[in-house]
Amino acid sequence: MSKDSLTITDNRTGRTYEIPIQDGAIRALDLRQIKSDEEDFGLMSYDPGYGNTAPCKSAITHIDGARGVLRYRGYRIEELAERSTYIETAYLLVKGVLPQPDRLKMWRHNITVHTMVHENVKKFLNGFRHDAHPMGMLVSTIGALSTFYPEANNVFDRESRRVQIRRLLGKTPTLAAFCYRRSRGLPYVYPDNDLSYTGNFLSMMFKMSERQYRPDPIIERALDVLFILHADHEQNCSTSAMRNVGSSRVDPYSAAAAATAALYGPLHGGANEAVLRMLNEIGHVSRVPQYVAQVKAGEGRLMGFGHRVYKHYDPRARIIKDLAHQVLEVTGKSPELEIAVELERIALEDDFFVTRRLYPNIDFYSGIIYQALKIPTAMFPVMFAIPRMAGWLAHWREFLQDEEQRIARPRQLYVGHEERGYEPTHRRLPSGDDLEETLVSDRI
Ligand code: CMC
Repeated sequence: MSKDSLTITDNRTGRTYEIPIQDGAIRALDLRQIKSDEEDFGLMSYDPGYGNTAPCKSAITHIDGARGVLRYRGYRIEELAERSTYIETAYLLVKGVLPQPDRLKMWRHNITVHTMVHENVKKFLNGFRHDAHPMGMLVSTIGALSTFYPEANNVFDRESRRVQIRRLLGKTPTLAAFCYRRSRGLPYVYPDNDLSYTGNFLSMMFKMSERQYRPDPIIERALDVLFILHADHEQNCSTSAMRNVGSSRVDPYSAAAAATAALYGPLHGGANEAVLRMLNEIGHVSRVPQYVAQVKAGEGRLMGFGHRVYKHYDPRARIIKDLAHQVLEVTGKSPELEIAVELERIALEDDFFVTRRLYPNIDFYSGIIYQALKIPTAMFPVMFAIPRMAGWLAHWREFLQDEEQRIARPRQLYVGHEERGYEPTHRRLPSGDDLEETLVSDRI
C-alpha cells in the first residue's frame, strides 16, 4: 500500500476506502465514493468559513503563521519592504518573477499611461449623495469600469487580460483619490504621470492650488512600503471573492468590485479604524494598564492584536511600527503612537497575551500612519484596496490559467423541510420568521 494515502473505514457500512494524499491534502471529491447505500449522494465535508479547505493550488504567497513568515513568490516580505517598490512587487505578484530593468521600465510606463479615467466617471461620482462613504463609491466605480471596456470579458485573451491588469493597477489610485475628493467636496485632481505611483496618489489626494505637488520623500516611501505590505495575503475573504466571482468568467472589473466589497466589511478591511477608536478611548499612556486589565477581565478585545493565521508577531506589523516612527518624525508627535507602543509593551509581557499567542497584527500601527497623513478613517479600507488590487489580479490570472479550476459552486447540507403541500392563506398558522414581519408606516 502506498504511504501517501488515507484509509477510511465507514462504520455505517463497514467498507474501507483508500484515498490518495497529495501536497498534504485529499481531494474532497474522492470522498464522494463513500456512500451509505446506492441511493446516497456520497460523503461531503462540512467546512463553514473554509477553515480547512484549499479551493486551489497557488504559487503566489506563502504564510507560515506559526513562525511569522510571509513571502511573495518566495521573497521574504522584510526584504521586499526594504529593497523593492510597490510597482516592482506588483510585477512580481502578477508575473511570478522580479523584472529585469527594461521590463520594469515598460511595466511602469504601461501602468502609468492608464492612470486617467474616462470623464464620465466624474459624472458618475457626482451622482452620489454628498456624504457617500468613499469605499461604497470605490466599489461602484471599479464595477462601472466594465461598461467602459466591454472587451474585458474576453478573459481567455492574453492580450486583453494584460491590458485590463494594467488599467486596474493604473486607475485604482485615481478612482480612490476621486472618491476622497468627492466626499470632501474638493475638485478632482488629475494624475501627474511625472510622479511615482504613490507620489501621484498623494498628489491626487492632497494637491490644492500649487502648480505641482511635491510629495515628501519619506512619506512617499512610507506609503510605498505600506502598499507592498498590503499587496497580497493569499486566500483571504476578498481574494476568495475575486476568484469565486471571476470563476464565472465575468470581466475583471466586476470581479474586482466584488473583492473590494468584501474588503469593505469590518472583519476584513476595517480593523485599523477600530484600533484608532480604542487608542482614543484609552486617551493617555497612564491609562494603558487599566485598559489591559479590562481586556483581561473579558471586557472587549485589544484591537489590532491576534490573528487567525499568525500565532507569532505578524511580520508586517514589525515593519509598520518602524514606518510609523519615521512618518511621525515628519508629521509631528502623535499621542496615539505613544499609547500604542506602551500597550504593546505591556501586553507582550503579560501572561494572558503570551499564552494565547496574541501579537500585534498589520492593523495595529497602520491607522496611526494614515491618521498622521491626514487620511480620514472612512478612507482606511480604500487605502487597503489600492495595493491589494495587485494581489487580486495575480490570483485572477492564476485562476484563469489553472486547468483544474471550474466555476465556484459549493455544495450545502440541506436541513430544511421535506416536500410539503401549498396551503391557502386562511389555513396558515403564524410561525418563525413570519412573526417578525410587522406593518411599517407608509409615511417615510
Ligand atoms: N484581545 C484579547 N483577547 C483576544 C484577542 C484580542 N485581540 N484575540 C483573541 N483573544 C483571545 C480570545 O478571547 C480567546 O481567549 P480564550 O481562549 O480565553 O477564549 C483566544 O484569544 C483565542 O481567540 P480566537 O477568537 O479563537 O482567535 P481567532 O483566531 O478566531 O481570532 C482575530 C482572530 C483576529 C479575529 C482576533 O484575534 C481578534 O478579534 N483580534 C482583534 C481584531 C483585529 O485586530 N482584527 C484584525 C485582524 S488582521 C487583518 C488581516 O490580516 O486581514
